[in-house]
Amino acid sequence: MTGVLDLNGLTVRLPGPDRPVLDDVSLSIAEGEALGLVGESGSGKSMTVRAIVRLLPAGAQVEGVVRVGGVEVGSLRGAALRELRAVVPVVFQDPRAHINPVRTIGDFLTEGLRTHRRLSRRSAEDRAVRLLDEVGVADGQRRLRQYPHELSGGLLQRVMIAAALLAEPRLLLADEPTTALDVTTQAEVMAAVDELRRERGLAMLFITHDLELAAAVCDRTAVMYAGRVMEVRASASLHEHPLHPYTAALAAARPSLERRADRLATIPGRPLSAFEAPDGCAFADRCAHIRERCREERPALRPLGDGQVACVRAEGLQVVFRD
Ligand SMILES: Nc1ncnc2c1ncn2[C@@H]1O[C@H](COP(=O)(O)OP(=O)(O)OP(=O)(O)O)[C@@H](O)[C@H]1O
Ligand SMILES: [Mg+2]
Repeated sequence: MTGVLDLNGLTVRLPGPDRPVLDDVSLSIAEGEALGLVGESGSGKSMTVRAIVRLLPAGAQVEGVVRVGGVEVGSLRGAALRELRAVVPVVFQDPRAHINPVRTIGDFLTEGLRTHRRLSRRSAEDRAVRLLDEVGVADGQRRLRQYPHELSGGLLQRVMIAAALLAEPRLLLADEPTTALDVTTQAEVMAAVDELRRERGLAMLFITHDLELAAAVCDRTAVMYAGRVMEVRASASLHEHPLHPYTAALAAARPSLERRADRLATIPGRPLSAFEAPDGCAFADRCAHIRERCREERPALRPLGDGQVACVRAEGLQVVFRD
């Protein structure tokens, strides 16, 4: 079945390192579905987003297939590529880095509507004000006259979300959209994204470091390590009953009120980038459950239970991680 997004064997090589930075990534998102993408820093989450909208570093080589709504994006050029980026908007972590500081919020929000959709300034502004209201920005008319520096980080991120929704997308790519915000603002912005998404039946790829946040807002969660997908399944079961030792370690490293520990569990060693990954399982050196064969062959992502896992020991470990 064709989803809103299908990644099949997506592999990205950057000039220099021998090993790819994204290594055989296969994921899909169904119509209206939210998929969380979780992993430590450098695991390739943002690179996945960049590969989807073809905003890769110079000299990057891509193998595998990326389809958005059934259309393969690898062959798109020029206007078709710009159209793709309009209908598959990305909301980034730092809104200030992605908005022109010398132009007003109004210009930013209405430019596309006026040039591409040929709306009058008046109707473009009306549309922008309505959307601002929907994302929780009151007094839209006044906001349109303001400059980015006059808005708080939380408000500005809401403006970015409104901008993303202007083209009535079917898929939203959100790359740690709330990580830079304080905790209460983070929760408010996340609640707004969640509600808007559900109302519109909008599919979303939601990137975060936070397994629990992914579980709260996403139907399914994928865990990535060193450019590879380690596990993907329904968020609740992934979070509560992980099958991959890396997922289990991520879950255990999170503070929890129920599980008051004197010290938080940490994952030994440091996260690897894909181009540092050894032969065999990329997580082998940090894994508490390693066996000899883990270093010899790379575990394939294979179906197990309600999802997929890339660990040869997953069946045996299910019981261990349930306790
Ligand atoms: N422009 C670039 N040139 C070279 N290497 C890059 C570039 N951008 C990212 N990388 C490398 O690609 C790997 C994956 O990076 P990516 O930004 O996708 O990680 P991430 O999972 O998004 O991490 P974070 O949680 O820190 O945002 C990292 O090793 C990073 O150093
Ligand atoms: Mg990133």
